[in-house]
Amino acid sequence: MLRVDSDADAAELYDRLNPWGPSDDFYLPFVMGASSVLDVGCGTGVLLRRAREGGHTGRLCGLDPDIASLARARRRNDVEWVEGKAADAPWTAEFELAVMAGNAFQVFVTDDELRASPAAIRAALTDGGRFVFGTRNPQARAWEDWNSSDPFEVVDHTGRPLRMSYQVESVVDGVVTLTETTATREGEPLRTDRASLRFLEVAGIDAFLGAAGFKVENWYGDWARGPLTAASEDVVVVVRAV
Ligand SMILES: C[S@@+](CC[C@H](N)C(=O)[O-])C[C@H]1O[C@@H](n2cnc3c(N)ncnc32)[C@H](O)[C@@H]1O
Repeated sequence: MLRVDSDADAAELYDRLNPWGPSDDFYLPFVMGASSVLDVGCGTGVLLRRAREGGHTGRLCGLDPDIASLARARRRNDVEWVEGKAADAPWTAEFELAVMAGNAFQVFVTDDELRASPAAIRAALTDGGRFVFGTRNPQARAWEDWNSSDPFEVVDHTGRPLRMSYQVESVVDGVVTLTETTATREGEPLRTDRASLRFLEVAGIDAFLGAAGFKVENWYGDWARGPLTAASEDVVVVVRAV
C-alpha cells in the first residue's frame, strides 16, 4: 500500500508543493546582502541552502520547531540549523537580518505569540538590523479558495502520484483552521495534517511590531515591491530594529 505516514516524507513533499517562487526571489537579495542572517520558521531550509549555494560566505542560521523539516535542512551542514520556536530564540544582537519566508509569520496565532516572537527576533538582531517577512492579506480572503472540491495532483520524491486537498474547518477572529489531506490518486487518504493560521490586519501587524521595538521601513503589496492596497493578496513588510 502507498503510504505517506512519516514526517520525513511529508517534509520531502513540502518542497515539492512549495517550489522556489517570486517570494523567494524577493527574500534572496536581502539574505545575500547581509553578513549574518536568521531564518525564523526556516522549514526545510530552502532559502538558506540556496544562499549558501549562491556564494554567501557569512553566518546563516535557520530556526524551526519541526524536527522532520530540520532533518531535511541538515543535509547541508554549512548552515546552522537550530530546533526551536521564534519566541525561544536564544540570541542577543547577533544578526543583521531576520526573515520569515513562506508566510511563516502566520503561525503566530495568539496575541501572546505575536508579542513574544517579534520581541525575541528583535533581541536577536543588532540595532538597525532588518526583519523582513510576508503574510497573507486578510482582505483578500485566500482561505475561500482552499476547499476539498478542488484537489490537485503532485508527484512525490519517489515518483508516486498523490492527490492533495484542503478543507477549511473554521474561520474565527482572523484565525483559519484547515486540514491538508494527502491521498492516493484514487482518493484513498494516507495522511491528514491540521494547522491554524492567523490573518492579521495591517494595523495589528504595525502595533505588534512597534511594541517589539521595530520601525516600519516599507510596506509592499506583492513580491515585485508594488504598493500595498486593500486588494493586495500579500502584505510584505520590511522593518528595522530601533
Ligand atoms: C509555511 S512553513 C514555511 C517554511 C519556510 N520558511 C519556507 O519558506 O518554505 C512555516 C514554518 O514555520 C514553522 N513554525 C511553526 N511554529 C513556529 C514558531 N512558533 N516559531 C518558528 N517557526 C514555527 C513550521 O514548523 C514551518 O516549518
